[in-house]
Amino acid sequence: MSENKRASFGGKLSVILVAAGSAIGLGALWRFPYIAGKHGGAAFLLVFLLSVLVVGMPAMLAEFAIGRRTRMNAVGAFRSLSKRWSWLGYSGVLCALFISGYYYLIAGWSLEYLVSSATTELYSSSLSFKEQFEGFQASWRPLIYGVLFIVMTHFIVSRGVEKGIEKAAKVMMPLLFIILIVMAVRVAFMPGAAEGYRFFLSCDFAKAFTPETIMMAIGQAFFSLSVGMGCMVTYASYFKKNNNLVSTSLNVSLLTLLVSVLAGLVIFPAVFSAGLQPTEGASLVFVTLPEIFKGMPLAPLWSTIFFVLVMLASLTSTISFHEVLTAYFAEEFKLSRQAAAITTTGISVVLSVLTFSKLFGVDYLDIFDKLTANVMMPLGAMFTCVLVSWFLDRKFMKEELTNNDTVNRYVAPVVVFMLRYITPLLIFYIFVANFV
Ligand code: PHE
Repeated sequence: MSENKRASFGGKLSVILVAAGSAIGLGALWRFPYIAGKHGGAAFLLVFLLSVLVVGMPAMLAEFAIGRRTRMNAVGAFRSLSKRWSWLGYSGVLCALFISGYYYLIAGWSLEYLVSSATTELYSSSLSFKEQFEGFQASWRPLIYGVLFIVMTHFIVSRGVEKGIEKAAKVMMPLLFIILIVMAVRVAFMPGAAEGYRFFLSCDFAKAFTPETIMMAIGQAFFSLSVGMGCMVTYASYFKKNNNLVSTSLNVSLLTLLVSVLAGLVIFPAVFSAGLQPTEGASLVFVTLPEIFKGMPLAPLWSTIFFVLVMLASLTSTISFHEVLTAYFAEEFKLSRQAAAITTTGISVVLSVLTFSKLFGVDYLDIFDKLTANVMMPLGAMFTCVLVSWFLDRKFMKEELTNNDTVNRYVAPVVVFMLRYITPLLIFYIFVANFV
């Protein structure tokens, strides 16, 4: 597509909402609380915060620069910068495929819970929430809801960059913030909430700075910011030339942090208030939370509101990795947008069936999750930083960060320094410390 024909997002706010829409999702609402619960609560929060600032944001800026400069899908973008680096684009596409292999299924759980909350079935059943969750897992329903989620995503992506993706983010993101704040306020009035705040906000430093916690936090930062797999490259290819990349990445990172913290402020006080344990793991949101809602007046209503929140947040994220693949198929194989979206949707359905079926007894969900967040995304981000700071023209990052010397003149050298010496080395160090 030629430069002037390529779609672009509208103003500053649209860009922030769309990118934050990708970032904020199951990572902040589902993954963050259960990982934080397992790794010491506040200790994890602190390391996560540092990871976002020191590794997440610089890497996001590198991706923004690449996307906006090349105005291409992930593979085309890396290839056009350097033929020898196109593998980095393919690794992003592969990562998007792996994420598609499990994310829709978990997003589908939120649909099931949304429906069973709204019909009050979740709360009128004689089974415990654990039994209900297990019964649900053993049925066909997760696959049906997962596929439904893929279809919803398809519908939005196939409408296009402006009419589909941008419009969805503009409607859904503000709604998401409102719901989250209402929930956080509601939870604060529950008896016993204080203990949850204490768990989540008082830090044990010894627990925080272990290689394992740091690796989990870095993995979470990349996953949650959608960095290290071409997603922000693809989105930035629709940014306008005068967009301030530094302030966009700052806003997106802060919003993601804010939502993660708010999710913690909803979930941990609620968990303690109900006398439960925060280390429940992946089922925290689906087993523990209903238990908590049950003790509240109007349980089905609060529960419905909460799962609408999870659904909205997931949808703006699924849209973004669907777009990585759709843009890739459309541009690299010269398909129409419709055909590319259908291809992506078809593959996503096949992968979800694979994960759901646990073919050969393999837990694909766990493998895809760990492989993408803890290996592929950190390494993808590390090599992206290395590419922009060691192999491309030295002016590349500076020009993109400053919009040709018009903004961020003092910030740009700091980011360039971090991209060159700090961010990639830190990722490398943590990676080696964990695996050797
Ligand atoms: N950031 C999203 C979330 O936290 C997940 C995601 C990863 C989306 C990679 C796009 C690309 O839910």
